[in-house]
Amino acid sequence: MKRYILVIAAFLVSQFAIAQTQDAKMKAFVDALIKKMSLEEKLGQLNLPGAGDIVTGGTPGTDNSQLAQKIKDGKVGGLFNIKGVSKIKYVQQIAMQQSRLKIPLIFGMDVIHGYETVFPIPLGLSCSWDMSLVERSARIAATEASADGICWTFSPMVDIGRDARWGRIAEGSGEDPYLGSQIAKAMVRGYQGNDLSKNNTIMACVKHYALYGAAEAGRDYNTVDMSHQRMYNDYLPPYKAASDAGAGSFMASFNEVDGVPATANKWLLTDVLRKQWGFKGFVVTDYTGINEMVDHGIGDLKTVSARALMAGIDMDMVGESILNYSAKSLKEGKVTMAQIDAACRRILEAKYKLGLFDDPYRYCDENRAKTEIFSDAHRREARSIAAQSFVLLKNQNNVLPLKKGGTIAVVGPLADNRENMPGTWSVAANFQKATSVLAGIKDVAGNNVKIIYAKGSNLDADEQFEERAGMFGKALGRDKRPAADIIAEAVNAANQSDVVVAVLGESAEMSGESSSRSNIEIPSAQKDLLKALLQTGKPLVLVLFTGRPLALKWENDNVPAILNVWFGGSEAGFAVADVLFGDVNPSGKLTTTFPQNVGQVPIYYAHKNTGRPLEEGRWFSKFRSNYLDVSNDPVYPFGYGLSYTGFSYSDIKLSSTSLKGNQTLTASVTVTNSGNRDGKEVVQLYIRDVVGSVTRPVKELKGFQKIDLKAGETKTVSFKITPEDLKFYNYDLKYDWEPGDFVIMIGGNSRDVKSAKVSWVK
Ligand code: BGC
Repeated sequence: MKRYILVIAAFLVSQFAIAQTQDAKMKAFVDALIKKMSLEEKLGQLNLPGAGDIVTGGTPGTDNSQLAQKIKDGKVGGLFNIKGVSKIKYVQQIAMQQSRLKIPLIFGMDVIHGYETVFPIPLGLSCSWDMSLVERSARIAATEASADGICWTFSPMVDIGRDARWGRIAEGSGEDPYLGSQIAKAMVRGYQGNDLSKNNTIMACVKHYALYGAAEAGRDYNTVDMSHQRMYNDYLPPYKAASDAGAGSFMASFNEVDGVPATANKWLLTDVLRKQWGFKGFVVTDYTGINEMVDHGIGDLKTVSARALMAGIDMDMVGESILNYSAKSLKEGKVTMAQIDAACRRILEAKYKLGLFDDPYRYCDENRAKTEIFSDAHRREARSIAAQSFVLLKNQNNVLPLKKGGTIAVVGPLADNRENMPGTWSVAANFQKATSVLAGIKDVAGNNVKIIYAKGSNLDADEQFEERAGMFGKALGRDKRPAADIIAEAVNAANQSDVVVAVLGESAEMSGESSSRSNIEIPSAQKDLLKALLQTGKPLVLVLFTGRPLALKWENDNVPAILNVWFGGSEAGFAVADVLFGDVNPSGKLTTTFPQNVGQVPIYYAHKNTGRPLEEGRWFSKFRSNYLDVSNDPVYPFGYGLSYTGFSYSDIKLSSTSLKGNQTLTASVTVTNSGNRDGKEVVQLYIRDVVGSVTRPVKELKGFQKIDLKAGETKTVSFKITPEDLKFYNYDLKYDWEPGDFVIMIGGNSRDVKSAKVSWVK
């Protein structure tokens, strides 16, 4: 044992020494380069335009676009959202052949949930609670993107989202800081691997720093205002986890923090990120984030660009104000040369770490682009990962799984559509290659099933709303007939069938950026269809597409089976069919709370108790914290999701009920698969800190294990708990634990838990 420890120690020391030598080499290289650079060239490195008017193709140098000229003049540090290896290679050649210092460009893209092989939207992926799958999806995304010229992705998006109205809740991992932190780390590992200079790893960009998910009223880009307690305990942990995991870059968010836009917030960008957390990479603004500070009302363009730079911004996305105003600001003493050098250094270091100075065409291997993108192997994995993101919300009388026989009516505006399957932010996807639910069902059902399709309704009764919800080539195609006729056709299909599969919900662009909703129900045109279908008395399965938690009270009360499939990616159609027919047993669990109505929002499981909590078993009491017209309960709690089998939990067994100092507590349950199918269960550990120097949440997720259980099988699941798991940021923002009583809870969701008490002294 001792020898083993010595070997490990020696290994760690040698790794540390190697890293130090590498850092020293990088520093020497960058020092030498910076010495040669003019002020304009330094500012050029901080400039990140979009693809602009560049003409890709032909001989580099024959291009007279303004952007090409800027590259030649050394006024561009990188470009983003250009797709295609030959185009990227072409642009890189301009920098390498025609600029004075021949500094390679960095190429970024929003590779958010896959490249051409598209995985579920991040909110869906998080419901797999499977870190190896999350990491794997990011690994495949990196492989494909890097094969096509990209070396930098604007992902992971780790903003905590507790407001279902906010469209970008789709892009994150839900409401919980602990789970969000695990996912943030897994994504960074998946993209960056352990060596950024490999040609199949790409640099992560953690966004949107910080608190973007807490926009008031769920309206995108809106004001954020929160206590430092809440920031540190609930919203900042995933960003910190990503920084700790070695993420190479961060993106500042559009919103303000403490009254100062994040893009100019020195406390956030420098004091917290760099000084407290030790982040060593670079920070890019969000799209025109600097220019928008003029509208925020904190100064003219020259002022806000100086403020951004001095606050800790290193790269300016699209706005070009750092490029255009910094020389003047320098003369006026509003920015310093040291700050410009520091920002320039961080960009050059990122390029160095990516190996671009060794080989600027490292990510431009046309052969890889041909063979590694949207490969059969990647698609197979995407199909399997998608199926694991789906959450079975209801399955009365075991309507599911369906038999591969008889007649099935497949109905709904999202049933026969490919373009919407990848979901929001699938910049690199080829929509025509995605599989619709109808095609997937036909493929998986085999020849013994007769399928009758009918559209049943438009996405929404309002044509203009539907247009807004079908942007970026994702229009569903409007059926101009009267709604009653479209429904009648679907009812007719249902009447001829043994079971109805209704594929309804949101289109892909009903969530994502600038897609906030004040009504979070299924659009009424589709609800009308659903009601008509239910009236046929046929068994019905609602296959629900959504990018946010929806208010599903009526559906939960009336529809026998509901399978929430989010947006599953390019292979969604197959994956939906795999689950519908039981080839895959669903195992996803919600990572956001599903409210009864929009008035309950924001709603999240880890709330505080208040001084007037509602008594157990009641839903209304005068002068208690509740509503007159709706109970406090959600429809589906955080952590919830069913399976085609059932799981039962024993009581909790504790290694001790009174602990001291740094002891370890073991809490175990036995979980039994009580049904007749093999399945997976996510066993969740929650802890309540009963008394604190500040108020504490009623429960907090502190661990989880996803286990496989064969039909009838029982397994013991144990969690090791140490004081580390009890720590939180107190009133003085000191991260520590406090002695006292704790409730340990274990269960299959945040509501249905077994509990046991312990006391823990210092
Ligand atoms: C979004 C970012 C994205 C950027 C670049 C912005 O509008 O907020 O998430 O990375 O555009 O496309």
